[in-house]
Amino acid sequence: MLIRRRRGWELGENRATPEGLYLRRRELVSAMGLGAAAFALPVVASAQDKDPSARLYPAKRNDRYGVPTPMTDEKRATTYNNFYEFGTDKSIWRDAQKLEVRPWTIKVGGMVEKPFEIGIDDLLAKMPLEERVYRHRCVETWSMIVPWSGFAMRSLVELCKPTGSAKFVVMKTLSRPSVMREQRDLLYPWPYTEGLAMDEAMHDLTFIATGLYGKPIHKQNGAPLRLVAPWKYGFKNVKSIVSIDFTDKRPVSFWEKLQSSEYGFWANVNPQVPHPRWSQATEKPLGSDQRIPTLLYNGYAEFVAGLYTDRKAEKLFM
Ligand code: MTE
Repeated sequence: MLIRRRRGWELGENRATPEGLYLRRRELVSAMGLGAAAFALPVVASAQDKDPSARLYPAKRNDRYGVPTPMTDEKRATTYNNFYEFGTDKSIWRDAQKLEVRPWTIKVGGMVEKPFEIGIDDLLAKMPLEERVYRHRCVETWSMIVPWSGFAMRSLVELCKPTGSAKFVVMKTLSRPSVMREQRDLLYPWPYTEGLAMDEAMHDLTFIATGLYGKPIHKQNGAPLRLVAPWKYGFKNVKSIVSIDFTDKRPVSFWEKLQSSEYGFWANVNPQVPHPRWSQATEKPLGSDQRIPTLLYNGYAEFVAGLYTDRKAEKLFM
C-alpha cells in the first residue's frame, strides 16, 4: 500500500511487487541477525503445532462460493505479505513471528446490548469452523487464491448482539509498538482500523479467518483472527483483531485517513475503475509471470452486487 506523501521507502506501483528489490536499513540489520533467519522456518512450524487450536484444523470445506483455482502455493502466500505494523515491505513474515497470539482477548463494545470480552479459544469453541477457498485481490494489483478456515462473520455479529441503531462495525488491530515496530512511526494513524456496513458484515460471504491451509492462521497473515471480505480490495481485511465496535457513524479506516482520494471506505474491486495512479484492469497472481484480467467484485458479483443497488451515490469502487 502506497500513499502519496512519499518518503524514501515508498515505491511507485510498477516497482512495488518484486520483493528483495531493495532492503531497508532495518531489514538489513535484521537480516544480519543470521541465526534468527536461519532457524525461522522450524520456529514457524513449531509455533503452529503449539497453538491450542491446532486440533480444530483442517475444517470441512464449504464450496458454496466456488473453489477457484489455481491455489496459491502456501509458501508464497505466507512469505509475501502486507502487515505494515511489522514493516513496509512484503517480507515481514520473520518479524511477525514475534507476535504473541495467546492469551488473546477480543473486546466487543459500542452499540451492543452489553459490552463484553472474549478470549480467542472461547470464541473458537462457540463457532462452527469451515474452510472456504477465496480469491484475494490487493489494491497493488497482486492476487492470490487461498483456503481460509474460520466462520461466517454473521455468527460473530450475532454473538455480539448489536442494537437496532448500529449501522457499521469497526474492527481494530492490536496495538503493540514493542513488537509491531512500525507503530512507533506516528506518520500512520495506528491502530489499523477497518469497517463494514452492517449488511456487508451480515452477508454470508464475509468471513473471519482463524486458519489458513488447514492450520491455525500464520502470524504474518493476521493471527489469531482477521477479516476476509473477498470482493473488496485486500486492505479492508484487517488482521490480528482485538476490538469490534458497533456504531451508527461510518468509520474512517486506516488508509482512508492517510489518503482518502486513493483509498475509500467501500473499496469494492472493479477493473474499470483505476486507482488514481495505476490501472486495476489486470492482476498478477502470486507465483505467476502472467497478468490475468481482474473481475468485477473480484468474481463475487452474483453474491454481493445486490448490497449496493441502493448505494449508487456512494464512491463504491475506491
Ligand atoms: N491489516 C493490518 N493490521 N495491517 C496491514 O498492513 N494490510 C492489508 C490487509 N490487512 C494490513 C492488514 C493489506 S493492504 C492486504 S493486501 C492484506 O492484509 C494482505 O494480507 P496477506 O498478507 O495475508 O496476504
